[in-house]
Amino acid sequence: MNSKGIESMRQIRTKRPVIQFGGDWTSHKLNLLKAYLTPYATIMKKQNFTFAYIDAFAGTGNRRIKKSETPTNPLFPDFAKKEVRDFLDGSARIALQIHPQFDKYIFIELTPTRFRELSALRNDFPELADKIELINADCNMWLKERCLRYNWAKHRAVLFLDPFGMQVEWTTIEAIAKTEAIDVLILFPLGVAVNRLLRKDGMIESEWRSALDRLFGTQNWYDLFYRQTIEQDLFETTTKVKKIVNLNSISRYYVERLKTVFPVGGVVERPHPLLNSKGNPLYHLCFAAGNPRGARIAVKIANYVLKG
Ligand SMILES: C[S@@+](CC[C@H](N)C(=O)[O-])C[C@H]1O[C@@H](n2cnc3c(N)ncnc32)[C@H](O)[C@@H]1O
Repeated sequence: MNSKGIESMRQIRTKRPVIQFGGDWTSHKLNLLKAYLTPYATIMKKQNFTFAYIDAFAGTGNRRIKKSETPTNPLFPDFAKKEVRDFLDGSARIALQIHPQFDKYIFIELTPTRFRELSALRNDFPELADKIELINADCNMWLKERCLRYNWAKHRAVLFLDPFGMQVEWTTIEAIAKTEAIDVLILFPLGVAVNRLLRKDGMIESEWRSALDRLFGTQNWYDLFYRQTIEQDLFETTTKVKKIVNLNSISRYYVERLKTVFPVGGVVERPHPLLNSKGNPLYHLCFAAGNPRGARIAVKIANYVLKG
Protein backbone atom coordinates (compact mmCIF):
# COMPACT_ATOMS: atom_id res chain seq x y z
CA MET A 1 0.00 0.00 0.00
CA ASN A 2 1.44 3.40 -0.96
CA SER A 3 1.33 6.70 0.97
CA LYS A 4 -2.07 7.61 -0.54
CA GLY A 5 -3.45 4.38 0.78
CA ILE A 6 -2.06 5.03 4.25
CA GLU A 7 -3.56 8.53 4.18
CA SER A 8 -6.97 7.08 3.24
CA MET A 9 -6.63 4.65 6.12
CA ARG A 10 -6.01 7.58 8.48
CA GLN A 11 -9.15 9.31 7.23
CA ILE A 12 -11.15 6.14 7.72
CA ARG A 13 -9.81 5.72 11.25
CA THR A 14 -10.96 9.19 12.20
CA LYS A 15 -14.43 8.53 10.72
CA ARG A 16 -15.13 5.21 12.38
CA PRO A 17 -17.93 3.51 10.42
CA VAL A 18 -21.17 3.44 12.30
CA ILE A 19 -22.09 -0.21 12.49
CA GLN A 20 -25.60 -0.58 13.77
CA PHE A 21 -25.63 -3.90 15.52
CA GLY A 22 -28.57 -5.53 17.15
CA GLY A 23 -30.88 -7.96 15.45
CA ASP A 24 -29.69 -11.36 14.42
CA TRP A 25 -26.19 -12.69 13.74
CA THR A 26 -26.75 -12.60 9.98
CA SER A 27 -27.31 -8.85 10.04
CA HIS A 28 -24.26 -8.56 12.24
CA LYS A 29 -22.18 -10.59 9.76
CA LEU A 30 -23.32 -8.44 6.85
CA ASN A 31 -22.60 -5.25 8.79
CA LEU A 32 -19.04 -6.47 9.32
CA LEU A 33 -18.71 -7.26 5.62
CA LYS A 34 -19.92 -3.79 4.69
CA ALA A 35 -17.59 -2.19 7.23
CA TYR A 36 -14.61 -3.90 5.58
CA LEU A 37 -15.66 -3.34 1.95
CA THR A 38 -16.07 0.42 2.30
CA PRO A 39 -12.50 1.27 3.37
CA TYR A 40 -11.13 -1.43 1.05
CA ALA A 41 -12.80 0.16 -2.00
CA THR A 42 -11.79 3.66 -0.85
CA ILE A 43 -8.14 2.68 -0.63
CA MET A 44 -8.08 0.59 -3.81
CA LYS A 45 -9.70 3.38 -5.83
CA LYS A 46 -6.52 5.41 -5.34
CA GLN A 47 -4.21 2.67 -6.52
CA ASN A 48 -3.27 1.39 -9.96
CA PHE A 49 -5.01 -1.95 -9.79
CA THR A 50 -8.38 -3.09 -11.06
CA PHE A 51 -10.19 -4.44 -8.05
CA ALA A 52 -13.07 -6.87 -7.71
CA TYR A 53 -15.52 -8.11 -5.13
CA ILE A 54 -15.95 -11.90 -5.28
CA ASP A 55 -18.88 -13.46 -3.46
CA ALA A 56 -18.29 -17.20 -3.68
CA PHE A 57 -21.46 -18.30 -1.83
CA ALA A 58 -23.66 -15.51 -3.13
CA GLY A 59 -27.10 -17.01 -2.47
CA THR A 60 -29.97 -15.14 -4.11
CA GLY A 61 -28.80 -11.62 -3.36
CA ASN A 62 -31.63 -11.27 -0.86
CA ARG A 63 -32.18 -12.79 2.50
CA ARG A 64 -35.59 -13.71 3.77
CA ILE A 65 -36.52 -12.92 7.34
CA LYS A 66 -39.54 -14.22 9.15
CA LYS A 67 -41.47 -11.88 11.34
CA SER A 68 -44.31 -12.85 13.64
CA GLU A 69 -47.03 -10.28 13.61
CA THR A 70 -49.14 -10.29 16.73
CA PRO A 71 -52.11 -7.90 16.63
CA THR A 72 -52.61 -5.43 19.42
CA ASN A 73 -56.38 -5.76 19.00
CA PRO A 74 -57.58 -9.10 20.39
CA LEU A 75 -60.92 -8.67 18.54
CA PHE A 76 -59.19 -9.80 15.36
CA PRO A 77 -57.71 -13.15 16.34
CA ASP A 78 -57.43 -14.23 12.70
CA PHE A 79 -54.39 -12.06 12.45
CA ALA A 80 -52.78 -13.56 15.51
CA LYS A 81 -49.27 -14.93 14.92
CA LYS A 82 -49.52 -14.29 11.22
CA GLU A 83 -46.15 -14.92 9.67
CA VAL A 84 -44.90 -12.19 7.40
CA ARG A 85 -41.97 -12.74 5.10
CA ASP A 86 -39.68 -9.83 4.49
CA PHE A 87 -36.64 -9.37 2.30
CA LEU A 88 -33.42 -7.70 3.27
CA ASP A 89 -30.25 -7.25 1.23
CA GLY A 90 -27.89 -10.21 1.16
CA SER A 91 -24.12 -9.90 0.71
CA ALA A 92 -24.31 -9.46 -3.09
CA ARG A 93 -26.72 -6.52 -2.95
CA ILE A 94 -24.74 -4.96 -0.12
CA ALA A 95 -21.55 -5.10 -2.20
CA LEU A 96 -23.29 -3.53 -5.19
CA GLN A 97 -24.21 -0.53 -3.04
CA ILE A 98 -20.69 0.13 -1.70
CA HIS A 99 -19.13 3.45 -2.67
CA PRO A 100 -16.75 3.86 -4.31
CA GLN A 101 -17.77 1.11 -6.73
CA PHE A 102 -15.66 -1.94 -7.47
CA ASP A 103 -14.36 -2.42 -11.03
CA LYS A 104 -15.89 -5.87 -11.12
CA TYR A 105 -18.37 -8.00 -9.15
CA ILE A 106 -18.20 -11.78 -9.36
CA PHE A 107 -21.08 -13.73 -7.86
CA ILE A 108 -20.90 -17.52 -7.62
CA GLU A 109 -23.85 -19.68 -6.63
CA LEU A 110 -24.18 -23.44 -7.00
CA THR A 111 -27.94 -24.00 -6.59
CA PRO A 112 -29.76 -23.33 -9.89
CA THR A 113 -32.94 -21.89 -8.33
CA ARG A 114 -30.94 -19.48 -6.19
CA PHE A 115 -28.75 -18.64 -9.15
CA ARG A 116 -31.82 -17.68 -11.24
CA GLU A 117 -32.92 -15.27 -8.51
CA LEU A 118 -29.37 -13.93 -8.22
CA SER A 119 -29.31 -13.20 -11.95
CA ALA A 120 -31.96 -10.51 -11.39
CA LEU A 121 -29.18 -8.33 -9.96
CA ARG A 122 -28.22 -7.23 -13.47
CA ASN A 123 -31.72 -5.77 -13.96
CA ASP A 124 -31.88 -4.26 -10.49
CA PHE A 125 -28.48 -2.54 -10.87
CA PRO A 126 -28.48 -1.66 -14.60
CA GLU A 127 -25.70 0.90 -14.19
CA LEU A 128 -23.40 -1.90 -12.91
CA ALA A 129 -24.66 -4.65 -15.25
CA ASP A 130 -21.48 -4.65 -17.37
CA LYS A 131 -19.35 -5.12 -14.30
CA ILE A 132 -21.29 -8.11 -12.96
CA GLU A 133 -20.12 -11.65 -13.70
CA LEU A 134 -22.51 -14.41 -12.65
CA ILE A 135 -21.22 -17.95 -12.22
CA ASN A 136 -23.42 -20.99 -11.64
CA ALA A 137 -20.80 -23.44 -10.35
CA ASP A 138 -19.09 -24.99 -7.36
CA CYS A 139 -16.97 -22.12 -6.05
CA ASN A 140 -14.13 -24.42 -4.97
CA MET A 141 -13.57 -25.54 -8.54
CA TRP A 142 -14.10 -22.09 -10.02
CA LEU A 143 -11.84 -20.29 -7.52
CA LYS A 144 -9.00 -22.78 -7.88
CA GLU A 145 -9.10 -22.42 -11.66
CA ARG A 146 -9.26 -18.60 -11.57
CA CYS A 147 -6.68 -18.20 -8.81
CA LEU A 148 -4.09 -20.48 -10.32
CA ARG A 149 -4.47 -19.67 -14.04
CA TYR A 150 -5.03 -15.90 -13.99
CA ASN A 151 -2.27 -13.29 -14.01
CA TRP A 152 -3.03 -11.30 -10.86
CA ALA A 153 -0.15 -8.81 -11.21
CA LYS A 154 -2.43 -5.86 -12.01
CA HIS A 155 -5.53 -7.06 -10.19
CA ARG A 156 -6.72 -7.21 -6.62
CA ALA A 157 -9.87 -8.65 -5.04
CA VAL A 158 -11.70 -9.09 -1.81
CA LEU A 159 -13.39 -12.45 -1.46
CA PHE A 160 -16.29 -13.32 0.84
CA LEU A 161 -16.59 -17.01 1.75
CA ASP A 162 -19.97 -17.44 3.43
CA PRO A 163 -20.85 -21.15 3.36
CA PHE A 164 -23.60 -22.81 5.39
CA GLY A 165 -21.17 -25.48 6.58
CA MET A 166 -17.81 -27.03 5.74
CA GLN A 167 -17.87 -26.36 1.98
CA VAL A 168 -14.65 -24.33 1.83
CA GLU A 169 -11.86 -26.74 0.95
CA TRP A 170 -8.31 -26.16 2.12
CA THR A 171 -7.00 -26.52 -1.44
CA THR A 172 -9.15 -23.50 -2.32
CA ILE A 173 -7.63 -21.48 0.53
CA GLU A 174 -4.15 -22.44 -0.72
CA ALA A 175 -4.98 -21.31 -4.26
CA ILE A 176 -6.34 -17.98 -2.95
CA ALA A 177 -3.19 -17.36 -0.91
CA LYS A 178 -0.97 -18.17 -3.90
CA THR A 179 -2.37 -15.23 -5.90
CA GLU A 180 -0.87 -12.79 -3.35
CA ALA A 181 -3.67 -10.50 -4.55
CA ILE A 182 -6.83 -11.53 -2.70
CA ASP A 183 -8.02 -10.52 0.77
CA VAL A 184 -10.48 -13.01 2.17
CA LEU A 185 -13.21 -12.98 4.80
CA ILE A 186 -14.02 -16.58 5.75
CA LEU A 187 -16.86 -17.88 7.87
CA PHE A 188 -15.26 -20.77 9.72
CA PRO A 189 -18.14 -23.12 10.71
CA LEU A 190 -16.97 -23.63 14.27
CA GLY A 191 -20.18 -24.31 16.18
CA VAL A 192 -22.56 -25.23 13.35
CA ALA A 193 -20.40 -28.05 12.06
CA VAL A 194 -16.82 -28.62 13.23
CA ASN A 195 -17.32 -28.82 16.99
CA ARG A 196 -20.44 -30.95 16.52
CA LEU A 197 -18.50 -33.52 14.53
CA LEU A 198 -15.70 -33.68 17.07
CA ARG A 199 -17.30 -36.23 19.38
CA LYS A 200 -15.95 -36.42 22.89
CA ASP A 201 -14.95 -40.07 22.46
CA GLY A 202 -13.18 -39.40 19.16
CA MET A 203 -15.39 -41.90 17.29
CA ILE A 204 -15.87 -39.85 14.14
CA GLU A 205 -17.37 -41.53 11.08
CA SER A 206 -14.86 -41.83 8.25
CA GLU A 207 -17.01 -39.64 5.97
CA TRP A 208 -16.88 -36.79 8.50
CA ARG A 209 -13.22 -37.33 9.19
CA SER A 210 -12.52 -36.89 5.49
CA ALA A 211 -14.66 -33.73 5.43
CA LEU A 212 -12.59 -32.33 8.31
CA ASP A 213 -9.38 -33.31 6.48
CA ARG A 214 -10.60 -31.35 3.44
CA LEU A 215 -11.46 -28.33 5.60
CA PHE A 216 -8.14 -28.26 7.48
CA GLY A 217 -5.98 -29.55 4.61
CA THR A 218 -4.25 -32.07 6.82
CA GLN A 219 -5.01 -35.12 8.95
CA ASN A 220 -2.91 -34.02 11.90
CA TRP A 221 -5.85 -32.24 13.57
CA TYR A 222 -7.00 -35.55 15.06
CA ASP A 223 -3.79 -36.10 17.04
CA LEU A 224 -3.90 -32.52 18.32
CA PHE A 225 -7.59 -32.57 19.22
CA TYR A 226 -7.62 -35.96 20.98
CA ARG A 227 -5.45 -37.61 23.60
CA GLN A 228 -5.17 -41.33 24.07
CA THR A 229 -4.89 -42.54 27.63
CA ILE A 230 -4.20 -46.04 28.81
CA GLU A 231 -5.99 -47.04 31.97
CA GLN A 232 -5.07 -50.14 33.83
CA ASP A 233 -6.84 -51.83 36.69
CA LEU A 234 -6.41 -55.19 38.32
CA PHE A 235 -8.04 -57.07 35.45
CA GLU A 236 -7.50 -55.23 32.21
CA THR A 237 -5.85 -52.42 30.29
CA THR A 238 -8.17 -50.09 28.37
CA THR A 239 -7.31 -47.38 25.89
CA LYS A 240 -9.49 -44.31 26.06
CA VAL A 241 -9.66 -41.36 23.69
CA LYS A 242 -10.53 -37.95 25.05
CA LYS A 243 -11.28 -34.69 23.28
CA ILE A 244 -8.89 -32.05 24.59
CA VAL A 245 -9.97 -29.02 22.56
CA ASN A 246 -12.67 -26.42 23.07
CA LEU A 247 -14.24 -23.88 20.74
CA ASN A 248 -11.41 -21.41 21.23
CA SER A 249 -8.61 -23.87 20.60
CA ILE A 250 -10.32 -25.26 17.48
CA SER A 251 -10.64 -21.72 16.11
CA ARG A 252 -7.02 -21.03 17.07
CA TYR A 253 -5.96 -24.09 15.09
CA TYR A 254 -7.72 -22.81 11.95
CA VAL A 255 -6.03 -19.41 12.34
CA GLU A 256 -2.66 -21.16 12.65
CA ARG A 257 -3.45 -23.12 9.49
CA LEU A 258 -4.21 -19.87 7.65
CA LYS A 259 -0.88 -18.50 8.83
CA THR A 260 0.93 -21.35 7.05
CA VAL A 261 -0.20 -20.09 3.61
CA PHE A 262 -0.80 -16.33 3.92
CA PRO A 263 1.99 -13.72 4.29
CA VAL A 264 3.56 -13.02 7.67
CA GLY A 265 1.29 -10.65 9.59
CA GLY A 266 -1.50 -11.24 7.05
CA VAL A 267 -3.95 -13.11 9.29
CA VAL A 268 -6.23 -11.64 11.96
CA GLU A 269 -5.30 -13.41 15.18
CA ARG A 270 -8.70 -13.14 16.83
CA PRO A 271 -11.59 -14.01 14.51
CA HIS A 272 -14.95 -12.45 15.25
CA PRO A 273 -17.48 -14.83 16.86
CA LEU A 274 -20.98 -14.82 15.35
CA LEU A 275 -23.28 -15.91 18.14
CA ASN A 276 -26.76 -17.41 18.19
CA SER A 277 -29.48 -16.04 20.49
CA LYS A 278 -28.12 -18.16 23.37
CA GLY A 279 -24.65 -16.65 23.01
CA ASN A 280 -23.05 -19.74 21.46
CA PRO A 281 -20.70 -19.24 18.50
CA LEU A 282 -22.07 -20.52 15.21
CA TYR A 283 -19.18 -19.26 13.10
CA HIS A 284 -15.92 -17.44 13.59
CA LEU A 285 -15.37 -14.75 10.97
CA CYS A 286 -11.70 -14.99 9.95
CA PHE A 287 -9.64 -12.67 7.81
CA ALA A 288 -6.47 -13.10 5.76
CA ALA A 289 -4.71 -10.69 3.41
CA GLY A 290 -3.04 -12.05 0.29
CA ASN A 291 -0.56 -9.40 -0.73
CA PRO A 292 2.61 -9.29 1.40
CA ARG A 293 3.05 -5.52 0.85
CA GLY A 294 -0.60 -4.67 1.59
CA ALA A 295 -1.06 -7.19 4.40
CA ARG A 296 -0.19 -4.90 7.31
CA ILE A 297 -2.73 -2.21 6.46
CA ALA A 298 -5.40 -4.75 5.41
CA VAL A 299 -5.08 -6.56 8.73
CA LYS A 300 -5.19 -3.24 10.56
CA ILE A 301 -8.54 -2.43 8.95
CA ALA A 302 -9.85 -5.95 9.45
CA ASN A 303 -8.82 -5.96 13.12
CA TYR A 304 -10.58 -2.68 13.61
CA VAL A 305 -13.76 -3.93 11.92
CA LEU A 306 -13.79 -7.38 13.52
CA LYS A 307 -13.48 -5.93 17.01
CA GLY A 308 -16.97 -4.48 16.47
C1 LIG B 1 -25.07 -18.89 3.69
S1 LIG B 1 -25.67 -18.88 2.07
C2 LIG B 1 -25.02 -17.40 1.42
C3 LIG B 1 -25.73 -16.17 1.84
C4 LIG B 1 -25.26 -14.92 1.13
N1 LIG B 1 -23.83 -14.69 1.31
C5 LIG B 1 -26.05 -13.72 1.62
O1 LIG B 1 -25.55 -12.92 2.39
O2 LIG B 1 -27.20 -13.60 1.20
C6 LIG B 1 -24.69 -20.08 1.26
C7 LIG B 1 -25.01 -20.21 -0.26
O3 LIG B 1 -23.97 -20.96 -0.86
C8 LIG B 1 -24.52 -21.84 -1.84
N2 LIG B 1 -23.53 -22.92 -1.99
C9 LIG B 1 -23.36 -24.05 -1.25
N3 LIG B 1 -22.30 -24.75 -1.67
C10 LIG B 1 -21.75 -24.02 -2.68
C11 LIG B 1 -20.60 -24.20 -3.51
N4 LIG B 1 -19.80 -25.28 -3.37
N5 LIG B 1 -20.32 -23.26 -4.44
C12 LIG B 1 -21.11 -22.17 -4.58
N6 LIG B 1 -22.23 -21.95 -3.84
C13 LIG B 1 -22.53 -22.86 -2.89
C14 LIG B 1 -25.83 -22.25 -1.24
O4 LIG B 1 -26.73 -22.67 -2.27
C15 LIG B 1 -26.29 -20.95 -0.56
O5 LIG B 1 -27.06 -20.18 -1.43
